[in-house]
Amino acid sequence: MVDNQRFHGWPHRMPTGRWAYVNGRYVPHARAAVHIEDRGLQFSDAIYEVWGLSDGALLDEEEHFERLERSLRELRMAMPMSRASLNLVLAELVRRNHIDNGILYLQVTRGVVRRDHAIPNAQPRPSMILTARRMDPKMLADRRKTGVKVVTRPDERWARCDIKSTSLLANVLAKTAAREEGAFEAWLIDRDGYVTEGSSTTAWIVDGEGRLVTRDLSNAILPGVTRRVILRAAAEAQMPVVERKFTLAEALSAREAFITAATLGATPVVRIDGKPVGEGKPGPVGRRIQELYGVESTRKTVAKGG
Ligand code: PDD
Repeated sequence: MVDNQRFHGWPHRMPTGRWAYVNGRYVPHARAAVHIEDRGLQFSDAIYEVWGLSDGALLDEEEHFERLERSLRELRMAMPMSRASLNLVLAELVRRNHIDNGILYLQVTRGVVRRDHAIPNAQPRPSMILTARRMDPKMLADRRKTGVKVVTRPDERWARCDIKSTSLLANVLAKTAAREEGAFEAWLIDRDGYVTEGSSTTAWIVDGEGRLVTRDLSNAILPGVTRRVILRAAAEAQMPVVERKFTLAEALSAREAFITAATLGATPVVRIDGKPVGEGKPGPVGRRIQELYGVESTRKTVAKGG
């Protein structure tokens, strides 16, 4: 029997009725587990992907699949199941968890094998973990209305931030520092003083000429799916966009700033390190981008909305 009071870090309130999917089976969330020799646990030898769910529809499903396949390829891991099968699992997880608005996580680890740093020649079967979590759309909309504060931290991550690896220790520490300072996000600053991205978001500014600026893709940042969709939408709307790196000083003198992620859409940044961005409140370009994202993002219905 599971000790409901103390199991898996849910000391006070273990969520009931939540389901996870682990290695081919739907299991109650509270009892979902992987083996102690799993390379994801022992080495962070794992990648992940995150889909937003809005009114029963998966957002930008294809682009997230593409990034998932790329992450796996970069680490010489095979897709653990076909896109079509994974689609069915995502839909079934949404159904079982009765979620219309929220977030879906997939982690794929290299699997369970006797501990040795090197990737074994005969690769084990990958482990697959899927979880779903509810998010309140009103809370997200309210946050977009008020905007968020960010602080800056040195970017202490590894050199392959383009891979969506579960190796997130530097991100965890940066986000914690932000929370401790009453901020929502930490913008990471590289050795040359340029902003790379947020600890779990893409960073954007609107420069003095009204151009949208976000860092160009490289190993230094995650290729954000929301970023990609917004760039497409902005180009179609003939908004001026520049993909280049920008310094903290530029961000501080920007007209507007915002962050994007599958879970957030475009959320305005109103303060950086305690200093106001522009007028210190959400601006028109950020709002327009959120509208454009709403139109441009693809939605595939997997659950009844409402
Ligand atoms: N984070 N940069 C980093 C470092 C991220 O972790 C994320 C997403 C993004 C935005 O990517 P996208 O637009 O594809 O969500 C940028 C997810 C949401 C997470 O870790 O939970």
